[in-house]
Amino acid sequence: MRHLLEIDDLSVAELGRVLDLAVDPSPPQVLDGQGMALLFEKPSARTRNSMEMAVVQLGGHPMYIQAAEVGLGVRESVEDVTRTLACFHACLGARVFDHATVEAMAAVGAVPVVNMLSDGAHPLQALADVLTMKQEMGDLAGRVVTYVGDGNNVFRSLALAAGMLGMEVRFTGPPGYRLGDIDRDRLATAGVGFEEFDRPEEAVAGADAVYSDVWVSMGQEDEKVKRLADFEGFQVDGSLMDAAGEQALFLHCLPAHRGEEVTDGVVDGPSSRVWPQAANRMHAARGLLAWLLGEAQETGQ
Ligand code: CP
Ligand code: NVA
Repeated sequence: MRHLLEIDDLSVAELGRVLDLAVDPSPPQVLDGQGMALLFEKPSARTRNSMEMAVVQLGGHPMYIQAAEVGLGVRESVEDVTRTLACFHACLGARVFDHATVEAMAAVGAVPVVNMLSDGAHPLQALADVLTMKQEMGDLAGRVVTYVGDGNNVFRSLALAAGMLGMEVRFTGPPGYRLGDIDRDRLATAGVGFEEFDRPEEAVAGADAVYSDVWVSMGQEDEKVKRLADFEGFQVDGSLMDAAGEQALFLHCLPAHRGEEVTDGVVDGPSSRVWPQAANRMHAARGLLAWLLGEAQETGQ
């Protein structure tokens, strides 16, 4: 049984197929008459709405569930909640604090599991990110994406997706917030060309896309004061976009903490593609589910 816990659960060919299905005007109705459980331990605007609409567009019925409502891991074990939801639903999406929770759900083997954001990864976001860049740039091979900020869930998934499609992936962020050896090995295994920079101006020079995410992710609110101090100098503002060059687009997974990791002028400026990127969350989710519940099942993979 196939799952999507992180982008490299897909081969390069499968990633391409998901992106093709994302723009298919008549996607296979793989959820016809079936449900998909969408379980959230954290808030969401884009992910919940894009997944609910993607499920509807594939003929299915989405069921939004707050983790506290089912008492995930408290009232009942993660495994038994998974087995229960699999009685009623063809697929389970989960947004969790600990990546091990989605791994435990997948290990049950009862139903395909989609990671809707964990502390480790945000693969649905990365699918929308590369879909957006493909629409803007065409073939992504040899293009450059520079991520500025925290080497977090969003960056890990973006680096895998962009790198698997042949992009050069650059990162700049303060010491202590960079990728560790395990993440670097994982990028290398996926064949991702990755380079780290100390100075944001060097990292963005000539980039086709400059990407940022919040400095304080959900669940890290207690670290806010320290993080805001540590990330000083890594804000994407007009002068950093000028250093990138006029070809550079600006991307952000949203929600943006305006005035922290990015200025209003950049989010709302002519280089910004954050709204097409947000809209692509639904198309990417539909492509992923069409593949996961369609071809991935049919081929017995
Ligand atoms: N980008 C993203 O995942 O947004 P939400 O947290 O609103 O779902
Ligand atoms: N890194 C952020 C992404 C939000 C979509 C978080 O985990 O909160």
